[in-house]
Amino acid sequence: MTTPDLERAGRPSAGRSPTAVPFPRLTPPPAFSPELARQDFPILHRTVNGKPLVWLDNGATTQKPRQVIEAVAGFYGAGNSNIHRGAHTMAREATEAYEAGRAAVARFLGAASPDEIVFVRGTTEAINLVAQSWGRSHLGPGDDILVPVLEHHSNIVPWQLVAKETRARVVPVPLRPDGQIDFGAYADLLSMRTQLVVISQASNVLGSVPPVKEMTALAHRYGAKVLVDGAQAVAHFPVDVQDLDADFYAFSGHKLFAPTGIGALYAKPEVLESMAPWQGGGNMIESVGFDRTTYAPMPHRLEAGTGHISGVVGLLAALNWLTSFDRDAIAAYENGLLAYAQQALATVPGLELLGSAPDRIAVLTFTLAGHDPAGIADWLDRDGIAIRAGHHCAQPALAHYGLDSAARASLALYNTSEEVDQLVASLGRLVQTAA
Ligand SMILES: Cc1ncc(COP(=O)(O)O)c(C=O)c1O
Repeated sequence: MTTPDLERAGRPSAGRSPTAVPFPRLTPPPAFSPELARQDFPILHRTVNGKPLVWLDNGATTQKPRQVIEAVAGFYGAGNSNIHRGAHTMAREATEAYEAGRAAVARFLGAASPDEIVFVRGTTEAINLVAQSWGRSHLGPGDDILVPVLEHHSNIVPWQLVAKETRARVVPVPLRPDGQIDFGAYADLLSMRTQLVVISQASNVLGSVPPVKEMTALAHRYGAKVLVDGAQAVAHFPVDVQDLDADFYAFSGHKLFAPTGIGALYAKPEVLESMAPWQGGGNMIESVGFDRTTYAPMPHRLEAGTGHISGVVGLLAALNWLTSFDRDAIAAYENGLLAYAQQALATVPGLELLGSAPDRIAVLTFTLAGHDPAGIADWLDRDGIAIRAGHHCAQPALAHYGLDSAARASLALYNTSEEVDQLVASLGRLVQTAA
């Protein structure tokens, strides 16, 4: 891309020296251009059922830019080797790429050091790791784990499993009618028994963004640790784990334009040091003997076996790609698109959007009178429009609305108002056909 192209795409112009920036600034920052960003996504140019693909299933997974695809292909084409082993050039190169990925994740999350980042398969594995490693050694009978009703199953079930083993209690934090976490009830549930609070930074069902920083500060007053599930947040707005003061932060690469099977867990260094190995094997040891085995320092102690090396290479490429844009410009663009989509969907007779939290990402979950969600998804699919239908792995959140299933359109930075128009037009045709 040329410099004007970069600016049109909303990327800060690279290489401009700080002294060259006029002050006061005379021109507004460049707006984000989804059209330029989507040129990086080969898949967005395919057709489905004879229609151009409209990918509105980003909450499930995002598409991958060619920079990520090429980085993964390049690794297997020219760089494939195992890491941390073997005294040869290829092993050294692969190790450097892997550790560069760790450093990039640390920067992306605002962590103080790459040593605070553990590579995992994704958010689910990160949460299970914390439950099994930290949970089993820190939880006991009578301890509480506070879990908002809004959480994804992967932030509920691991706590139920470890609570059963340790005889701790999983305590649901209720929602208000508008779908936001009931802050008053949360404050009342906190006590000296609370060992852990878990919170999604953005809900995959309602898109709502709870006051994580305030909830964390309150939990810390009781000495509780806080785990933040960033699965839905990371692609939409900048994250700073130190500002949040989170003890743990988990995310999945595939919801962030990176490959599947790779994600990261951040933990504060003092918390990491208090964690026992959760899986044994290569890479996580210092020395092994039948009389005594000692372990590698953190974070390697929690990374047994060969990691997803090409996944880390792809994740690094995805982070480089995403952070080449002005992320505030992306957030502003997505907020505008969300407002547009909310207004447009409201014109469809019988359509009801779930949740009305003012602070939210572009997730639109809805019901349509007389149509079951699976039928809606099927109808839209015939028009090349991909949405999700079902319980969205958040059955307690849907039960709050008296539902067991709903339709969900989830938007990403490469979606456009024209695509929202196509969604609304297709839903309009469905309503007319059924009338
Ligand atoms: C809020 C939230 N947490 C956790 C997960 C689980 O992510 P993964 O399946 O990538 O581990 C998801 C996936 O949709 C999610 O939306």
